[in-house]
Amino acid sequence: MAPTQVKKICCIGAGYVGGPTCAVIALKCPNIIVTIVDLNQARIDAWNSPTFDLPIYEPGLEDVIREARGRNLFFTTEVDKAIDEADLIFVSVNTPTKKSGVGKGFAADLNYIELATRQIARIATTSKIVVEKSTVPCRTAESMRTILDANSRPGVHFDILSNPEFLAEGTAIADLFAPDRVLIGSLQTEEGKKASAALSAVYNNWVPTDRILTVGLWSSELSKLAANAMLAQRISSINALSAICEATGANIDEVAYAVGKDSRIGPKFLKASVGFGGSCFQKDILNLVYLSETLHLPEVAAYWKAVVDMNEYQKNRFSSNIVKTLFSTVTNKKIAVLGFAFKKDTGDTRESASITLINNFFQEAANVTVYDPEVKEAQIWQDLTENGGDLAAYKKKITISNSALEACEGAAAIVIATEWDEFRTLDWTAVHSKMSKPAFVFDGRLILDAPALRAIGFSVHQIGSGWPSL
Ligand code: UDX
Ligand code: ADP
Repeated sequence: MAPTQVKKICCIGAGYVGGPTCAVIALKCPNIIVTIVDLNQARIDAWNSPTFDLPIYEPGLEDVIREARGRNLFFTTEVDKAIDEADLIFVSVNTPTKKSGVGKGFAADLNYIELATRQIARIATTSKIVVEKSTVPCRTAESMRTILDANSRPGVHFDILSNPEFLAEGTAIADLFAPDRVLIGSLQTEEGKKASAALSAVYNNWVPTDRILTVGLWSSELSKLAANAMLAQRISSINALSAICEATGANIDEVAYAVGKDSRIGPKFLKASVGFGGSCFQKDILNLVYLSETLHLPEVAAYWKAVVDMNEYQKNRFSSNIVKTLFSTVTNKKIAVLGFAFKKDTGDTRESASITLINNFFQEAANVTVYDPEVKEAQIWQDLTENGGDLAAYKKKITISNSALEACEGAAAIVIATEWDEFRTLDWTAVHSKMSKPAFVFDGRLILDAPALRAIGFSVHQIGSGWPSL
């Protein structure tokens, strides 16, 4: 019999999902001991940093850690001990897209999940609830159950739950404090329902009952992929329309405003952009594509694949429009790219549109300066050369700046790639005075006041609002 009341929680994986989620559980449930473990010593050391130099930048996170760490929240690399002591274990390890083998480029790499599951089976001396938190393909819980059942010690029983995380980076703490919903999937057996009730009770310490949804295991797993696919689909839809706007003189913000006023559609996630990034959207859609193909549903696979294809198109369309506007050559011209994170208020760069833009400018032999208020320099170099690029060659053409103003000095063009608030409030008159003329601004995030910038003397081009020079 797995525990019905949760007193000790272990979270395997101290990353973007496991770290903030379990830190908030600890904050809101002072009677539960929460231990977050990771194999990565440097990451754990950063979570334990006396100066709160945490491994993740997330507004409000530091306050949570300050209050809970050392009280009922602990970070450690002693994985086995934490597993054995816990009543409930969250599995929050990484599930990147496979880089080789069957399903390469589409399917999720479940190696980390399997290793963590085997470790739980090997170590546990008492029954436990095991919760898959990482986004996984449908039916992963079934594989986990098979592994646990085949390897567990006599008398040790595991109940498996799916509890996908819907937080968005940059607003993780606010999302965790007041989630739209908490989704818990379980087998619809007596034991499955009891385990589901035990986890519901944990969330019920701060989440109202009507926001805690309990469903079947497979529905829960699929709902996570479906939610991300549908959010991303809205962005690709609005981005597809932005191309029509540029060709016709319509304005995408006005179109989105008008469309979003329909209460059936709603205003959120209709902001045209240079393309979505982040660790989830592309990965989860490709997962859904792979799932559809393995289920022999090629039309369904093609439908979802088009969302990712449109995103790639948008990034490349934006950079090629920039090159065309800069008189069809950017060779040795200085382009300042403002923003490297995949969205504001995060230092995360996974799948960021900036990577594609800068690589495209690099291919065109431009000189690029990059500024981001949060992303570390080493991360930028790693991302740019991820596909085997020659670092020395990159360093000859690309410079990382310490401020937006510094990046723009002597530039022919500025490209807004991330919607950081500080770019809205730059001293644009000072920026203009430092640039070569004519001074271009390409706003890939629709955050700038185009008429005001034109009054200063800039030539301004925004995604989805006419591109007069083409
Ligand atoms: C997403 C989901 O929102 C979240 O529920 C899930 O748990 C993880 O994936 P995240 O990737 O952190 O969260 O960020 P999100 O705010 O969804 O933004 C994703 C990308 O879409 C960003 O690059 C963002 O700039 C872009 N975006 C978002 C747009 O281009 N337009 C929009 O209208 C909204
Ligand atoms: P996510 O965005 O899904 O949270 P991250 O890559 O940020 O993904 O975090 C996942 C973390 O899980 C990494 O820090 C990794 O070291 C950790 N991890 C993977 N496998 C194990 C394991 N078996 N035991 C402990 N930690 C693990």
